[in-house]
Amino acid sequence: PETITVQELANRMAERGADLVKALFKMGMPVTMTQSIDQDTAELLVTDFGHNVKRVSDSDVDLQTEVEADPEDTLKPRAPVVTIMGHVDHGKTSLLDALRGTDVVKGESGGITQHIGAYQVTLKDKSKITFLDTPGHEAFTEMRARGANVTDIVVLVVAADDGLMPQTIEAINHTKAAGVPMIVAINKIDKHEANPQRVRERLLEHDVQVEAMGGETQDVEVSALKKTGLDELVEKIQLQAELLELKANPDRAAEGAVVEAKLDKGRGPVATILVGRGTLKVGDVFVVGAESGKVRALVDDKGRQVKEAGPSMPVEVLGLSGVPRAGDQLQVVENEARAREVAEYRQSVLTQKRTTSAPASLESMFSALK
Ligand code: GTP
Ligand code: MG
Repeated sequence: PETITVQELANRMAERGADLVKALFKMGMPVTMTQSIDQDTAELLVTDFGHNVKRVSDSDVDLQTEVEADPEDTLKPRAPVVTIMGHVDHGKTSLLDALRGTDVVKGESGGITQHIGAYQVTLKDKSKITFLDTPGHEAFTEMRARGANVTDIVVLVVAADDGLMPQTIEAINHTKAAGVPMIVAINKIDKHEANPQRVRERLLEHDVQVEAMGGETQDVEVSALKKTGLDELVEKIQLQAELLELKANPDRAAEGAVVEAKLDKGRGPVATILVGRGTLKVGDVFVVGAESGKVRALVDDKGRQVKEAGPSMPVEVLGLSGVPRAGDQLQVVENEARAREVAEYRQSVLTQKRTTSAPASLESMFSALK
């Protein structure tokens, strides 16, 4: 069977060789940089580092991480992807609803709010912001663990009457770990018990220094209930987004991440995909995690059927072989045979990972991993 040296694999993954050696050691494989490992081990390592594994030919399993960047001249500006986080009941959903109310392109579904876990708001100046409605911290961490770093900006919601709570602190830590800029929305400012200054002070204890306290983190007082401060919040998001210079190549085979997926009674497996780069079109053949499919229909966050979805756009995808997991990557491939083949291969790797076999076998080392 094919083998690869740790150093060569590290190069291909654009990771430090020492980190791979450390990871292999944890897997119970004490090897050095120059030693070779087999393909299954290499593949597990690649997946664990959050990269994708791609088969390049029928017989050969080459390990290619999808890290190649698009040429600079193919990049076009894209909308920021914003995740709202915060403690239970601090008003995340209310704030999302209020922000959604500022959308100038209202849905035509007659007041029925389509919940697809992610949606895009079009502002008066025609610019767009994508909001992720999956504020569960576990989902955020889980997606990151799978390499789906889809969030550009985190909006941390803190209720001004309640102050910093355990999940607020958790959210701060997750945001820091992800290296994503944060904007603090101090909510429920309409309440007479509201004490926004106390929130700013407590944030200092967690190394979050807002502008009023001499730091660089932006904060804004809002009331999701009274709909105040929303324009200012949107402005701050836009300002932050500008600094990030977010771009993607829209003219290539699409890649995206699963925000959520479910089995729908009438429509079969449905996944909400946030397109990262390229443009996803009806008829495209794809692999998503260990599932495959052909896009039968694309439905936007307003419940309308669309023909395609470009970078930063969330869409529901119909036509999957099964239900993928949140954080799985979607990739458009050349043809259905190839899509099935990659999916089947990944299924077998997943099964192998879960199977506990005789001690001292490679498999048992892998199963001890997770
Ligand atoms: P979970 O999803 O359960 O974590 O909660 P959440 O953070 O999404 O909070 P949600 O939006 O459900 O709001 C919780 C409660 O706070 C609801 O009763 C809201 O009406 C209330 N609330 C949200 N925003 C405001 C606000 O700005 N002012 C006041 N007075 N109440 C608010
Ligand atoms: Mg909520």
